Formats: sequence, structure tokens, C-alpha cells
Amino acid sequence: MGFSNEWDDKYQDNTHMSVWPWTNLVSLVMRNKPQKRNFKILELGCGAGANIPFFVSLEADYYSVEGSKTIVDKLHHRFPYLKDNIMIGDFTDFIPETQFDLIVDRASLTCNHEESIIKSLKKCHERLNVGGKYIGVDWFSTHHSDYKKGIQAEDVWTRKDMVGSGFEGTGRAHFSDQNHLMELFKAFEVKSLSHSVLTEKIPTLNTTVATWNFVMEKV
Ligand SMILES: C[S@@+](CC[C@H](N)C(=O)[O-])C[C@H]1O[C@@H](n2cnc3c(N)ncnc32)[C@H](O)[C@@H]1O
Repeated sequence: MGFSNEWDDKYQDNTHMSVWPWTNLVSLVMRNKPQKRNFKILELGCGAGANIPFFVSLEADYYSVEGSKTIVDKLHHRFPYLKDNIMIGDFTDFIPETQFDLIVDRASLTCNHEESIIKSLKKCHERLNVGGKYIGVDWFSTHHSDYKKGIQAEDVWTRKDMVGSGFEGTGRAHFSDQNHLMELFKAFEVKSLSHSVLTEKIPTLNTTVATWNFVMEKV
């Protein structure tokens, strides 16, 4: 099982309501998107829809699979013309039966455990056209200070019950080191990989947010 219902609780409480597109996602997409018009894009876990207006502005044919019914209902209201394309589902079990030019995932698949991630990536690879790219943004790194929080979930990379951290009440978080990422994406060719480490000093002392951003291509 992949999707954690705790995400639905968060959206019912009107938290995690990010509505502006994420900077790293915008720059990676602008550098790596297909050159053709109306390219087909799948966003894994669109959340509150932060990135949707950006993809719409690119005239992309946009799809998303998101596990929270609460947030998907809100998005159908906000983007009625995407009602058929923003789907409620668990993307570790279900990827739409169509071929995509681009799959984008900001901090979504990394909210699942290893076995579910492997299952989902296999399907994503099948549904990408040759030359299509998987852009991963803000995948959690083992250098993140919260990797020590909570308790181990299904595997050594996955934590849960991370009370007192930004992950509190959001189910699982999967943290990767470089070798693990390479293993997860072994079916793809790595086009770029960067590791970002940000240490906050105020108001929290020495909290380290460490994440991976990458572009993988189906060859
Ligand atoms: C950290 S939020 C990121 C939301 C969005 N990608 C963004 O950048 O603003 C993670 C999202 O992934 C969704 N999610 C996590 N695991 C999922 C799964 N297995 N199937 C469907 N949605 C999932 C959650 O419901 C949540 O909306």
C-alpha cells in the first residue's frame, strides 16, 4: 500500500495548501521540457495544485494522479476543464493508460516506501515515450536531519511517526542516498542530479533540509 490517508486529513485541515509553483520545478521543467506543443505531462501527486497553472501556461496536455479526494474535489472546482485529467488514485498502483512525454514529481513518490516506489517507477518507465523524461524535485536525502526522527517503517530508507518535524502527520517519508537513487532509477539514463543541503539557523538551530533534484531519461 502506498498512499497515506494522513494527507487527506492535512488537506481537510487546510494545511499544506501550497499554491505557487516551486522554483526548482519551474527551472528544471523549462530546461528539459519537450520542444513540441501540447506535449503530454503527468504530475505524480499534484497536492493543492501549486504547479498546475504553470503547466497550463506551457499549453501542455496535463494529467495528475493524487490520492487525496478532499484536494482533488477542490481542484476540480478550481480547474473544471481538467476534471477528467486530475484523477483520484494511488500512483503506486495506477498510472493512466497513455504515453507521456514528461513525468514530474515534486516530493510525492518520496512519500512512499521502497517497494511501492519501485512498483510505481516501473509503471512510469513503461508509460514514458522513448526520450521522455522523469523530473524529480525535492526527493528527501539521508542527509536531512529528520531522517533520524520517528521510527523505521517498511524498510531502512522509510520513516514514519516523525513527531516534532515538518513530516509530522503526513505518513511516510522515504530518504535516499546517491547509490539508492541510482538503484531505484536503474532503468533510466541519468541526465542530471543535484543534492541541495540547506541548514537553518533561526528560528530552529541547525535543522538541515537535504534534498535531491534530478532528470532521468527513458532511452
Ligand atoms: C509533499 S506533497 C507535494 C504536492 C505537490 N507535488 C507540490 O509540489 O506542491 C505530496 C503529495 O503526494 C500525494 N501522494 C503521496 N503518496 C501518494 C500515492 N501513493 N498516491 C497518490 N498520491 C500520493 C499526497 O497526497 C500529497 O498531495
